[in-house]
Amino acid sequence: MLRSTPVTTMLPVIDLERAAPEVGSPADADRDALLAGLRAPRAWIAPKFFYDALGSTLFDAITELDEYYLTRTERAILRAREREIAAASGCDGGTLIDLGAGNGEKAASLFAALRPREYVAVDISVDYMHHSLEVLQRRFPGIVMTGIGADITRPLVLPAHIGRTRRLFFYPGSSIGNFVPDQAQRFLAGLGAHIDDTGALLIGVDLVKDAATLQAAYDDPLGVTAAFNLNVLRRLNRIIGSDFVLADWRHVAFFDAAHSRIEMHLEARRAVCVRWASGERRFAAGERIHTENSYKYPLEAFAALLGRAGLEQHACWTDERQWFAVVLARRSGARRRSDCGEPTPVDGGAADQKR
Ligand SMILES: C[S@@+](CC[C@H](N)C(=O)[O-])C[C@H]1O[C@@H](n2cnc3c(N)ncnc32)[C@H](O)[C@@H]1O
Repeated sequence: MLRSTPVTTMLPVIDLERAAPEVGSPADADRDALLAGLRAPRAWIAPKFFYDALGSTLFDAITELDEYYLTRTERAILRAREREIAAASGCDGGTLIDLGAGNGEKAASLFAALRPREYVAVDISVDYMHHSLEVLQRRFPGIVMTGIGADITRPLVLPAHIGRTRRLFFYPGSSIGNFVPDQAQRFLAGLGAHIDDTGALLIGVDLVKDAATLQAAYDDPLGVTAAFNLNVLRRLNRIIGSDFVLADWRHVAFFDAAHSRIEMHLEARRAVCVRWASGERRFAAGERIHTENSYKYPLEAFAALLGRAGLEQHACWTDERQWFAVVLARRSGARRRSDCGEPTPVDGGAADQKR
């Protein structure tokens, strides 16, 4: 159900996206990027535009699908390995910063083991995150919680009151796969700048597997992923005032083995002309708008990516099918805190696969 009740608590939520309506603001940059993508010879829309309140709700529905193995596999690894993760992170009692937090449930599943003093949820879908955070704050009143509405593809600015030591950045959901590898490297390097020797990054990574399994996860027969993909056109209509008719478009998803990525597109069912205040774009029947990449990594390739970003893999946990990995990384050469114990070795061990 779409959550649309007004916010009632005093929970601090800092909305960096809406804070600056002047020229050159994030909203301006978003409009410019959307128009540039629409005018490009191969039209594209950045995947961050999937996420308004409805998009976030549709994503939660996707995670319930049998075909969408990612969420339940990652959850199972976190559940089975929570104590090892807490010990390896050395961030006990510190600040847990959840990037692209969504409903925050994965982070919450680690609260008992990590015992964070402070939880910071960062998400572009601000209203959805805010309501989720309210629910979490009621469940965990002893944790200081802050919500930050921000686009993490821009340089991350954390408010001064957020703890600086024992920061554990948590980036689950394999969202790192939405970046092309060069962008992913820059993003990870940027995160490294916020982590000192006492901090770490805990990140979920979807691994390469057979194409049929991958494809089914992004093209379910119920059409939930199709609705999620099409919802981006509603957002475009709102943001740039375009006149996309959703019924003119269909969802397409496939695995591109050469790039090791799932691609999602919207394909014109017939010739259409889309108009907005300052222009228009004609699409031939069958022409596509590229809406998402989701890179799938071999474990070694992901470790190498971390290395190029100035981070190093410290521990890694996977499920028994090796479909998904949860990786703990530190800044390269970081001196371990004396009370952290030895790093958890790379582990191909089994985690419970049940929901
Ligand atoms: C795939 S969902 C994952 C949600 C949750 N972390 C999980 O693992 O189930 C991606 C989340 O990241 C958020 N998101 C997407 N792009 C973002 C961006 N550029 N900046 C901040 N948040 C973003 C979405 O709103 C959504 O909550």
